[in-house]
Amino acid sequence: MKKLLIKGNKELNGEVHIGGAKNAIVALIPASVLTKGKCVIHNVPDISDVRILLDIMKSLGSEVIYKNETLIIDNKNLHNELIKQEYASKLRASYYFMGSLLGLFNKAEISYPGGCIIGSRPIDIHLDSFKKMNVTIKEVDGHYLMKSKSRLKGTSLFFDFPSVGATINVMIAATLANGVTKIINAAREPEIVNVADFLNSMGAKIKGAGTGEIIIEGVEELHDGEVTVIPDRIEAGTYLIMGALLGRNFKVSGLVSEHLESLLFKFREAGVKYKIKGNSVYISRTRKLNAVNIKTTVYPGFPTDLGQPMSTFLTQCSGESIFEETIYENRLRHIPHLNAMGANINAFEKKAVVIGPSKLVGRKVKATDLRAGASLLVAGMVAEGTTEISNIEHILRGYENIVSKLNKVGADIRLIDED
Ligand code: EPZ
Repeated sequence: MKKLLIKGNKELNGEVHIGGAKNAIVALIPASVLTKGKCVIHNVPDISDVRILLDIMKSLGSEVIYKNETLIIDNKNLHNELIKQEYASKLRASYYFMGSLLGLFNKAEISYPGGCIIGSRPIDIHLDSFKKMNVTIKEVDGHYLMKSKSRLKGTSLFFDFPSVGATINVMIAATLANGVTKIINAAREPEIVNVADFLNSMGAKIKGAGTGEIIIEGVEELHDGEVTVIPDRIEAGTYLIMGALLGRNFKVSGLVSEHLESLLFKFREAGVKYKIKGNSVYISRTRKLNAVNIKTTVYPGFPTDLGQPMSTFLTQCSGESIFEETIYENRLRHIPHLNAMGANINAFEKKAVVIGPSKLVGRKVKATDLRAGASLLVAGMVAEGTTEISNIEHILRGYENIVSKLNKVGADIRLIDED
C-alpha cells in the first residue's frame, strides 16, 4: 500500500493539463464490444480503471493496443465470457458490459460490480430496464446471469431517477435492439454525450444525448468506430479548487469550461478571481473568500463528485457555508479527517455546516474513497506542516499522474510505501 506525504502551503505556479474523463472512458471501452470491427479511442487517461477494463476486454478475446493515450481495440475474435469477480468487483463501471454483451450476444454473465463505498448504489434501474427489453435475469453464485431469447426489444422507459449509469447502459444495449428505445428522464451528464457520439461513429442511431429524452433506433450491426474522450471535468474542478486556494500564476488547460458552469458560478459568488481563455482557466488565490452554500445534484447542477473537494474549499471561506450532498447516502466520511486537521464542520447525515476560515494543520489521515481522498489532498496542500494520507490507491484511480502534475507547479508531495 502507498501513502502521500504533503508539505503544505506551497504556492502553485505554472500549468496543469487535464486528461480524458475517467467516467467517460470506463463506459467507452465496454461500449466498443458492440462491434466486431476496430475502434480507435483518443485522449485515454492512464488510470488503473482503464487497465482493469483492458484486462476484461482481453478476457473476451479482444486485441488491445494502448500507447501514448491512444487505444486501438480489435474485436474480430471477440467471444462471450463470464466477467469474473476479480475484475468486476474492482470498479462499478464493469456493469457496462451488461449492455454491450446483451446487445451483441443477447447474453451476459457479470459478477457484482464494485466501486467507491459512498452509499448502497443499487442498480435496479439498469436491471428493470433490461427486463423491459425482454431480458431474463437470475442471480447465480454472486453473479448476474442475463439472457434474451433473441435481439433485445426496443421499448419506452421512464427513469424514476436520472441515473448516469443506467442511461449509458440502456443506450448501449438499445443500439442493436429490435425497434426504437426511448429513455424519459435520462441523465444529462457530458459523459453520456461522449458515449452516444462514439456509438453513432460506429453506425448507431442515437438522438437527444445530453437532454432528458434520448431516442435510440436499433440497427442490425455496427462497423469500426472512433472517438476522443472528453476532458475530465471532475479532475479539472479539483485542480481549479487548488488554484483558488493556492494559485499565483496558475493555469488549468485542456478543459471544457461549459462543463464546469456550476463550480465557476460558485467561485464568482465566493469572490475567486479567474479568467477563461479557450480551453484554459487562469485562477489565483484570493485574500478573502466569502462563504457560499453548496448543494450537489444531477448535471448541470453542482456535481456530487466535486462536493468533497469543495467542502475543503469552504473551510477557507469567511463565515458559515452550508454543504448538502443529495445523491449518495454516505459521502461525508472525509469530514472527521478535515476536522482533525483543524476544520470546523458540523455534519448531520447528508448536510454539513462549515464555519471558516480555519487554519488547517498537517495530520495523519485516511482516504475512504476516491473523492474523499481528493478533499484530503486539497486540505494537505493548504495546511501548515506535513500531512500523511494513507489508502491513496483510491486517489490514483481517478487522477492521472496527480503527484507529478502537482509537483511540477510547486507542490511538495511524495508518494511512499506504507511502513
Ligand atoms: C456515475 O456513477 C459516476 N461513476 C459517479 O462518479 C458519479 O458520482 C455518478 O455517476 C453521479 O454523477 C461513473 O461514471 C463510473 P448514478 P453511477 O447511476 O452511474 C442511484 C466518481 O467519484 N441509483 O447516477 O453509479 C444510486 O444509488 C464516481 O468518479 C439507483 O437508485 O451514478 C446513486 O445514489 C462516484 N438505482 C444515484 O442514483 C440505479 O439503478 C447515482 O447513481 C442506479 C442509480
